Amino acid sequence: MTDPLLVLFGATGDLSEKKLLPALKGLHESGDGMPVLLVSRKDTDIHGFIEYMGIGDYPDSFLEDLYYVQKDVTEGADGRLRERVREIEGFHGCDTRLFYLALPYFLFEDASSLIDGSGLNRDGARVAFEKPFGDSLESARSLLSDIRGFFDRDQVFLVDHYLGKEAVEDLLATRFGSDLLGAVWNGKHAESIQILLSEDFGPSGRTRYYDSAGAIRDVVQSHLLQALSLATMRPPDSLSEEDVREAKLEALRSLELPETQDLVVGQYGAGQNPSSEAYRELEGADEDSATETFAALRFGIDSPLWPDTDIYLKTGKMLDRHEASINLVLEEDSRLYDKNQGEAVTLRMHPTQGLRLRLTQKGGDGVESMRQDVLQNSPDSSTAYENIFSGLVRGDHRLFVSQEFMEESWRITDRLIDMKESKNNNFPNYAPGTKGPEKAGNIPERHGDSWIDLTRERETDT
Ligand code: BG6
Repeated sequence: MTDPLLVLFGATGDLSEKKLLPALKGLHESGDGMPVLLVSRKDTDIHGFIEYMGIGDYPDSFLEDLYYVQKDVTEGADGRLRERVREIEGFHGCDTRLFYLALPYFLFEDASSLIDGSGLNRDGARVAFEKPFGDSLESARSLLSDIRGFFDRDQVFLVDHYLGKEAVEDLLATRFGSDLLGAVWNGKHAESIQILLSEDFGPSGRTRYYDSAGAIRDVVQSHLLQALSLATMRPPDSLSEEDVREAKLEALRSLELPETQDLVVGQYGAGQNPSSEAYRELEGADEDSATETFAALRFGIDSPLWPDTDIYLKTGKMLDRHEASINLVLEEDSRLYDKNQGEAVTLRMHPTQGLRLRLTQKGGDGVESMRQDVLQNSPDSSTAYENIFSGLVRGDHRLFVSQEFMEESWRITDRLIDMKESKNNNFPNYAPGTKGPEKAGNIPERHGDSWIDLTRERETDT
């Protein structure tokens, strides 16, 4: 039995407010709660924190197990953090120390040094680092070497909350557990794999960070490459952490970088109806910002499992809808019927989580595409972070990014960033509420495909 104490750095930040505190409350409500020591620079106490974060309506039983300590991680150890940790551990009888660093990556080394210098880095302590881990391969490597100066490999947990999403976890079961779906999830049947993360909102409240990152570093490097590797990896020898890690890494290494015209980036301008600010007008964005708020690209893949399969990724802010999915689009190879689009297996992450099939059925004079939601999971988006926290409590590295994967994903990202920078991007180049720059449509077209449109087909009556 594990009795953890969670020490949450960056407790007053945007992520804490939107995702981490709701997830911790969710865990508490399902009986898996834990005392949490909140750490932030803000000069306040636990009452001030609750008010500032607007969580006064959370259950008292949850709020009672929250503690606060004011601490700037750049100031070094002064005993305050150690005292609070020991006090709370004594009171609750905690035997496992978890640290969660919801901080910008340039503070990771200071925070690690603070934990270590406070004498809190005992055997079995686990330290989770929020994404992004660096902003290039070089910075990520140097960061890794800095933090490994304090912690052993097994103590380090690199977070990508997409690994906690039900749909991402379901991907393994769909591919390697389901005989029906596993039979078509390969390059013999698939025309393309498409991973989409479309959002109908801007960087809301995180513009300063976003302006230094952009869509490629923010989500392609992490969430989309994670989903892609799980969608394309060979069957691992077992479901063990090592075997899955190996197969994912191989999948990433077999990617072929896009040709120049197969990478399209965009930035949104002002909206007319309803009127909305252009990205460059947001507080925190540079007025001449060259940051991309949209990216679409095609990878080739050098793998016997996926001969001639195209891999497409698309993501953007302020698009026409909020939707996230992993899709396998099948070849249209019926000789007898003329189909207007291929069938598809979709693992949806948003707005609902679950499995959707696009099938061909009789309709009109011939056949038409119908969609059917086969399995639906909980729509609650904070579940991903609940799973991440639970994984940290168990010390389950499968829910976290391996250090090798992180490096490889930055290697690819660096190349994409170079490609982006060598283009003559004329920003802004798309209007809010649209599908992004028109040129993005040309990417699949050039390869005889089209972007999957999850709204096009008719819904079957259930
Ligand atoms: C974060 C990105 O990691 O993931 C955000 O920084 C993005 O820009 C978010 O909006 C998407 O996560 P989710 O779970 O809301 O789909």
